[in-house]
Amino acid sequence: MGSHGMLARRALLTDTPVMVQIQALIRGVKDCVSLAQGVVYWQPPIQALEKVQKLVWDPVISRYGADEGLPELREALLKKLRHENKLHRSSVMVTAGANQAFVNIVLTLCDAGDSVVMFAPYYFNSYMSFQMTGVTDILVGPGDPKMLHPDADWLERTLKDTKPTPKLVSVVNPGNPSGTYIPEPLLQRISDLCRDAGCWLVVDNTYEYFMYDGRKHVCLEGNHIVNVFSFSKAYGMMGWRVGYIAFPSEVEGLSAQLLKVQDNIPICASIISQRLALHSLEMGPEWVTDRVNELVKNRDIVLEGLSPLGKDAVKGGEGAIYLWAKLPDKFPDDFEVVRWLAQKHGVVLIPGSSSGCPGYVRISFGGLIEDQCRIASERLKKGLEELVNKGMVL
Ligand SMILES: Cc1ncc(COP(=O)(O)O)c(C=O)c1O
Repeated sequence: MGSHGMLARRALLTDTPVMVQIQALIRGVKDCVSLAQGVVYWQPPIQALEKVQKLVWDPVISRYGADEGLPELREALLKKLRHENKLHRSSVMVTAGANQAFVNIVLTLCDAGDSVVMFAPYYFNSYMSFQMTGVTDILVGPGDPKMLHPDADWLERTLKDTKPTPKLVSVVNPGNPSGTYIPEPLLQRISDLCRDAGCWLVVDNTYEYFMYDGRKHVCLEGNHIVNVFSFSKAYGMMGWRVGYIAFPSEVEGLSAQLLKVQDNIPICASIISQRLALHSLEMGPEWVTDRVNELVKNRDIVLEGLSPLGKDAVKGGEGAIYLWAKLPDKFPDDFEVVRWLAQKHGVVLIPGSSSGCPGYVRISFGGLIEDQCRIASERLKKGLEELVNKGMVL
């Protein structure tokens, strides 16, 4: 029934969400463990949940709130941005998660037909946000083959040679799916290139607290920089849907234009969720970093599971909750390998082609408690040993 001719090309030409495909795969396999979805295993702070539980009867919770977010939460976020992120000239808008923040930004800064820049492996949802808003000229730059860092020399050439100049450069730091951290001097160079070319830099800091082995996350500020943040992973609040945008206060009109988009998508982020965010924030960043530090065990367990691929095939694990691995050359179809691993070995990964890199896989180490992670890793190791030695035996 019906015809594709009746549906918007904008939607039809947008990639199918990889997570939806993977969830279907998981449903079809009995007893599989997932190293696929980018989630954490913990719940929001108990103290914050208890406070919020008492709020449901308050009529204010059921009404619309200010588009830009609850004043108390915005105040707390501005304080956090100043103290933790050293962002002193930024305004804040609360959104229904970082993904919605990104859509707000694209709709506010880009016109259909503009070109934009991302780096492979890229975050699939950002790519789709461009596609579905008509920003289809997406220039995908390479990552450094060793470190996966965005190639700034390529960016310099691209910003110089592309006419009209790309409107926006997007990076995720630390990276999804790469799991690598962009060191401050490189981020600064990318920022300078964007500023000099007259293009925006959007930095997704969803994993700001997820830094390992003594690394420290840094944000940059400037009138060409927009920073995105999320409560989802840090506070185990994925389903509550709260994120925020820190944008330069001095850029005339930016706040007003962002507000138009906000008013037409969520109007405001869920009020009870914003309350939970506020009370979670009161727990302090240590609440998050205590949990993140525990994830090192999971990372090392999963690294062992990936060992059949060889050390050089595995990258990431510096930040975020991801490892990124190259499959042996003779298996370029990463979707096929992911299906086989799920059906034969009961462990699920994310195919790298969804991030612009066929022949790779993304492995998340945030979603399982240690015991479950160990089980997943053992299955992964067995599966990869078989893949390397015998191929995809059914
Ligand atoms: C880099 C990045 N940005 C944004 C999101 C989405 O976050 P939120 O749940 O706040 O929309 C994710 C979730 O996986 C992510 O990895």
